[in-house]
Amino acid sequence: MNIDIYDPDIYASATPYDDFALLRRDFPVYRQIMPNGSFYWAVTRYADVVEVSRQPEKFSAEVGGVILEDQSAEQLEQSKNMLLMMDPPRHSKVRKTIYPYFRPGEISRLEDRIREICIEILTVGLARKTVEFVHDLAAQLPAQILGELMGIPPEDRAQINHWAEIMIGSQDPDINPSTSNAAEKILSPNEGSVAMAMYGMEFARSRRESNRSDRDTDLGDLLLATQVDGRSMTDLEFAYFFVQLVTAGNDTTRTMISSGLLTLIEHPDQLAALRENPHLCGSALEEILRYSPPLHYFRRTATADTQISEQVIKAGEKVALMYSSANRDEAVFSCPDEFDITRNPNAHLSFGIGEHFCLGVHLARMEGRVFLEEMLNLWPKIELAGAPKRQRSNLNNALKALPIRVAGA
Ligand code: HEM
Repeated sequence: MNIDIYDPDIYASATPYDDFALLRRDFPVYRQIMPNGSFYWAVTRYADVVEVSRQPEKFSAEVGGVILEDQSAEQLEQSKNMLLMMDPPRHSKVRKTIYPYFRPGEISRLEDRIREICIEILTVGLARKTVEFVHDLAAQLPAQILGELMGIPPEDRAQINHWAEIMIGSQDPDINPSTSNAAEKILSPNEGSVAMAMYGMEFARSRRESNRSDRDTDLGDLLLATQVDGRSMTDLEFAYFFVQLVTAGNDTTRTMISSGLLTLIEHPDQLAALRENPHLCGSALEEILRYSPPLHYFRRTATADTQISEQVIKAGEKVALMYSSANRDEAVFSCPDEFDITRNPNAHLSFGIGEHFCLGVHLARMEGRVFLEEMLNLWPKIELAGAPKRQRSNLNNALKALPIRVAGA
């Protein structure tokens, strides 16, 4: 079958949902060739994505990392300090020690602060009337929340956001113009990641030297003090952990809010229903996440000869967990291409599933829900003020620009 679901150019105009549907029906584990001649297996059905995600020993996140492009040995070595790219048993140990900072009870204490920031951001939008929503407004919420949680000085947050965007948006020349050739952009050492890791090292060093009694303890201090196997993280380990938290927490949340707003504008009946029933904000957010998942996929590497569904997979082969396709699987969701804010149940896979299920899920959900609640309160009328622009990426299902016009009551 001549379907290409790798080409990042395709995603710049739209997610190839029709191709995903064909693959789910005819080639659920699809052999996709990459531009360098190598290939990966795209797992397109919901049940198979769940099965692979639940077998971290057989399908490793550590061996080849979580993106499709092969990393250098040096990059992989550094990535091993990120929770997302650890395999059991180390992964389970590290995750267990860090989970308490992210559990619902801890996160619920942030609700008032999240609401305050949402109101500030929405008030700015109202005053300006016409804004580029993605960078001028949506990005501010996760940047401020993560900045405050970790104790990152306010004056450094814009720079950190910029590094995160370069790192994550490396397939889009508008976002990462540092190299001229598309393949090189991914394979060359990533400027954003290195710069941010250096910042993280310096952050760790100065934290260890400073007198903690001068200020309140924050997540940065707690992570630095966390013990795994009887020792705390080195500065380098902390630095890559920092890189992961900041990138995972910033970009995906900004995307969720931006795609959510665009989807609501494009479905005026659903926006009107939400205005009538604001208690549905939580349910609407889940549907936004299902309908427009911030990440299209994460990768695994088979550690032994095995099988997914009927398909034989050899040791060392790459496997992509296609969240965007699984979320539209007709075997699980009725009318999967319809956007329905009342959908229930809605067990989408946008936060993954299994061992690596998103650690920041409660924070992301709270930010999204509170943003929607306050947006309904403060913005009675919202419309597009120009054409939205999508990121050129087969990984991030993100907008890079969303011009909107806002009117008050
Ligand atoms: C809408 C927002 C978000 C989305 C869609 C999202 C999505 C994901 C996905 C798909 C995974 C990997 C699942 C897997 O490999 O099986 C993941 C893991 C992770 N996420 Fe999120 N995420 C979001 C927000 C956040 C936030 C706000 C944080 C932290 C502040 C965060 C931190 C993490 C971490 C640390 C992991 C690795 C967990 C592990 O390997 O055990 N994420 N996320």
